[in-house]
Amino acid sequence: MSMERVSSIEEARGALRRARLEGRTIGLVPTMGALHEGHLSLVAASRARCDLTVVSVFVNPTQFGPGEDFDAYPRDLDADTALLEAAGVDALFAPGTAVMYPAGAATSVDPGPLATLWCGASRPGHFTGVATIVTKLLSTVGPDVAFFGEKDYQQLKVIERVVTDLDIPTHVVGCPIVREPDGLALSSRNRYLSAADRTHALVLSRALASVRARVDAGETDGAALQRELANAIASEPGITLDYAAIVDAETLESVSELRRECRALVAARVGSARLIDNVALSPASSHACR
Ligand code: PAJ
Repeated sequence: MSMERVSSIEEARGALRRARLEGRTIGLVPTMGALHEGHLSLVAASRARCDLTVVSVFVNPTQFGPGEDFDAYPRDLDADTALLEAAGVDALFAPGTAVMYPAGAATSVDPGPLATLWCGASRPGHFTGVATIVTKLLSTVGPDVAFFGEKDYQQLKVIERVVTDLDIPTHVVGCPIVREPDGLALSSRNRYLSAADRTHALVLSRALASVRARVDAGETDGAALQRELANAIASEPGITLDYAAIVDAETLESVSELRRECRALVAARVGSARLIDNVALSPASSHACR
C-alpha cells in the first residue's frame, strides 16, 4: 500500500481513525527531516513492533535559539518522502509552521530541571521547544509507541519525563545510535561538515570509546574520566568543546563514582556545526546488582 501524506491535524487524525477503531497499534517516529539511516532505524523499530508506522517531518522553530541554524537547517521533503515510502512507512505527517503554531498559540511545556542541564544550559529554551512539539505530535497522532534515538540522549530522558508527568498514554522507546563505519554518529547536521571538519569530528566517538574502554577495565572515578574525555577532545584541532560529562543515566547529574548505569555525554562545535554524541557506561558493580 502506498504511503499516505497528510499536512493538517484533522487529516492526520482522520487517516488513523480507522486503524484505531480496528485495534491496530500505531507507532510514531518524530523527525525534523533530512533523513538518514539513524532515522530509518527508528522506522524499522516501529515497523517491527507496531501495525502502522507514522513519521512526522517538521523543523520545529521553537527548539532553535536566536542565531542558531533554523534557517540553514537542511530541508528536502521530496527526498525524505521517497526514503519513507521505500522504508514501508504508512503515513507521513508534514505540517507547515502555521499548522503547529497558529496565530495566538501561547502554551508551552516546561520539562523541569532535566532540561536545564548540558544541552539545556547551552541552548536555553531548547527542551521547552522539544517538549512542546513532541507533546503536540503525540496529541495529534495518539501513538501506542513513540520511537526516539539515544543519539539525543538528554532529549530522550526529557521526553520520558514529559510523557510520565503528563500521563500521556504512549510508550516511549529509545533506540541505539547509528554510526558511520568510522564511528561518526549520523546526524542531519553532518551535512554542514567539510572534509577537514569531518576528520576533526571523529575525535568525539574516539574519545567516548576510549572512556568506555577505561570503564570496562575497571575505572570508576567520574571526575578522572570526565577530565580524560575533555582533554582528548580539547587536544584535537578544529573542534571547540561545549561540554564533556560523566552522568547518571537517569538523572543526568554528574557522578563522582560510577556505581550504576552511567552515560558519557559530549557536545562540541566543529566548523559551523554543533555536534553531540554519547555512550553508555556500565561499571562492573552495576552488572553485579542487576
Ligand atoms: P531529528 O534530529 O530529526 O531526530 C529525529 C530522531 O532521530 C530523534 O529521536 C533522534 O534521536 C533520532 N536520531 C538522529 N540521529 C540518530 C542516529 N545517528 N542514531 C539513532 N537515532 C538518531 O530530534 C529531533 O529531530 C527533534 O528534536 C524532534 C524530536 C523531532 C522534535 O522536534
